[in-house]
Amino acid sequence: MEKFDAVDIIIAKRDGKSLTDEQIDWTIDAYTRGVIADEQMSALGMAIFLNGMESREITRWTQAMINSGQTLDFSSLSVPTTDKHSTGGVGDKITLPLAPLVAVFDVAVPQLSGRGLGHTGGTLDKLEAIPGWHGAISTEGIVKQLDEVGAIICETTEGLAPADKKLYALRDITGIVDTIPLIASSIMSKKIAEGTEALVLDVKTGSGAFMKDRQKAEELARTMVELGKAAGTATSAFITDMDTPLGLAVGNAIEVEESVEVLAGGGPADVVELTVALAQEMLALVGKTDVDVAAALKDGRAMDKWRQMISAQGGDPDAKLPMGRESHVVTAAESGVLTRLDALSVGQASWRLGAGRARPGDAVQAGAGIRLHAKPGDAVEAGAPLMTLYTDEAQRFDRALESLEGATAIAPAGSPEATEAAESTSAIFDHIK
Ligand code: URA
Repeated sequence: MEKFDAVDIIIAKRDGKSLTDEQIDWTIDAYTRGVIADEQMSALGMAIFLNGMESREITRWTQAMINSGQTLDFSSLSVPTTDKHSTGGVGDKITLPLAPLVAVFDVAVPQLSGRGLGHTGGTLDKLEAIPGWHGAISTEGIVKQLDEVGAIICETTEGLAPADKKLYALRDITGIVDTIPLIASSIMSKKIAEGTEALVLDVKTGSGAFMKDRQKAEELARTMVELGKAAGTATSAFITDMDTPLGLAVGNAIEVEESVEVLAGGGPADVVELTVALAQEMLALVGKTDVDVAAALKDGRAMDKWRQMISAQGGDPDAKLPMGRESHVVTAAESGVLTRLDALSVGQASWRLGAGRARPGDAVQAGAGIRLHAKPGDAVEAGAPLMTLYTDEAQRFDRALESLEGATAIAPAGSPEATEAAESTSAIFDHIK
């Protein structure tokens, strides 16, 4: 005999009532067991989407999702664990240089990562462009690599927050992804179950982000920071720009290449800025405040860690990376200053070139993507290249170019728009502790 009826819980939330702790625990457990049907859970999800949840309900919902599966235990490690999570963006390859960089400073970085979702790229898809590299590692293997190398980027283990796995797939097809209680509990249940001691959240805002609106992004960040702290995880968040892609490379292999440039002490300024800021915060949260993070990018220590981390997972750090066989150059229609380069459009174009998948389980092209030749604030000449598109299948160019229609804007040098674009140099808007 079940404790509750799903329909009573759906009606309570539909009518704007708060759910009790017992109702929430039962809902998540019964859904994981298959007692609550997908259509009932989608009705409840829509009621949550429309009527929201109070802070106590979100905390309990998150804990119930954690309890639906196993949790990882890193207590055998002799060093603290610290992690980062991004809410997803375009050209967001930060995890790649960040994990080895932070591991230089005697901490362990367990980056359990995902695949691309819609127009946003996936860390695993990017790393799989490296010949031989694999991300499926057992729980024992994760602990061993953290002990020996200090950093790992791999798939999430099967048993971690299974309620979220089911609910996320359902939300994706029922129009209830972008709501704060469900996003915050989804992300934080996985991160808390992963067992990291500290967590820095990179909450994206802008056209290429889930949270287009800055105020909503801040609310999401505050909710997640509260959830982390309530669970005993030292948590803080940055609000960062996703109106423009990060760096100059969007795709899979092409983003690995740019990450390696950063690890070699170079790379685009926005990628370096965010990598260093996140690394400093990940270390500060475990008490390491007196460290020169930028120096470890310049002197090769982060690169050494990267090579160890890639080799430990079967990858060849010296292998030539694949590049799409076909290319197409998009040029500037006029001279002036680039004032806009829309992240969503570039992400969709890269996805249509083959860097992302149309259905779960589809293969992605390692060599597909876009190299940007200018960013907002840069002067451009009429006819000069703005970006180069790469794919293995030339028939993909037309649809990718459709995505890019209206993605860029150029203003005359000296105009207020041109000056504003040239002056906004930082992608970091806010830091929430
Ligand atoms: N990423 C997640 O893991 N969950 C969400 O709900 C949104 C982004």
